Amino acid sequence: MIATRVTEIFGIRYPIVQGGMIWVSGWRLAAAVAKAGALGLIGAGSMTPDLLREHIRKIKKEGIEGVWGVNLPIFFQYAEEMAQIVLEEKVRVVFTSGGSPRKYISRFKERGIKVAHVTATPELAVKCEEAGVDAVVVEGFEAGGHNGRDELTTMVLVPQSVDAVKIPVIAAGGIFDGRGMAAALAMGASGVQIGTRFAATRESSAHENFKRMMLEASPTDTFLILRKLIPARVIKNAWYERVVEAEKRGAGEEELLRIIGEKRTKMGMFDGDLVEGELQIGQAAGAIRDLPAAGEVVNAIARDCEQIMAEMPGRLLRNQ
Ligand SMILES: Cc1cc2nc3c(=O)[nH]c(=O)nc-3n(C[C@H](O)[C@H](O)[C@H](O)COP(=O)(O)O)c2cc1C
Repeated sequence: MIATRVTEIFGIRYPIVQGGMIWVSGWRLAAAVAKAGALGLIGAGSMTPDLLREHIRKIKKEGIEGVWGVNLPIFFQYAEEMAQIVLEEKVRVVFTSGGSPRKYISRFKERGIKVAHVTATPELAVKCEEAGVDAVVVEGFEAGGHNGRDELTTMVLVPQSVDAVKIPVIAAGGIFDGRGMAAALAMGASGVQIGTRFAATRESSAHENFKRMMLEASPTDTFLILRKLIPARVIKNAWYERVVEAEKRGAGEEELLRIIGEKRTKMGMFDGDLVEGELQIGQAAGAIRDLPAAGEVVNAIARDCEQIMAEMPGRLLRNQ
């Protein structure tokens, strides 16, 4: 048990959130994380509305005691329909991302849903607070998936966001173990959101090829692309090279969209095409050397974080 405002608000044992991830975090991953006492999120951003409903019903059927929710990217074409499904299915927690949550907040809050929004600057964290969210996730440049344009790293983003808002801040980007979590809490965060580490677990629905690639990745294998469109952190492959080449010669939005094409993320992350697919993952991939069960990840991170915090004064005396 690590008690913070985030554990109180969401009713979880550990202030750890498994970030919503397209093609990776379906009901199985969210359920495994929830069972272990953290918050598991179904990533709606790669689903159709019907599929989202199916995943929600499957996780409900598990009858788990833990807490789970849905990550709803606001810019997504089905956002409106999915918000309705969330209400109909009486989902208790929603993490919105990629756009302003303002439009949805009162509808969710009226039904007692706990809402957090993912953002990438202290200024936007303030806007989230004004919009009425219960907590804000601030995600640094190290993170996998879509990324903020301002390229703030977690280390500078978290303390400045904590100073800027009164609501609890959840730190994201580059956190993959108990050390990272302890550091985030030391900077004033009330919890952590983790993506990459959970993508490399047994219950993640990432393709086995992609999981294998994560195991082999070095910390310098991921790059931020598409800064002018929607920045995304990916692992280098042939498709990535084409995007970079086009960006270097100043290709316009239309050409870049053509290179991205349709279903590029599915091709890479879900179907396992490591050459032509888009493979979103964070810098933390360099630290991943195993594919444990998601519950083991939660337990190890929470245990190590607690131990580090308890031992900190002794560590400082020994090491400095
Ligand atoms: C494969 C992948 C897909 C992601 N998809 C989404 C998404 O659909 N919506 C979202 O809000 N964040 C998404 N993210 C970001 C995560 O929810 C999380 O904030 C981020 O991964 C944290 O940084 P980390 O990867 O360093 O742990 C994705 C991340 C990864 C690695």
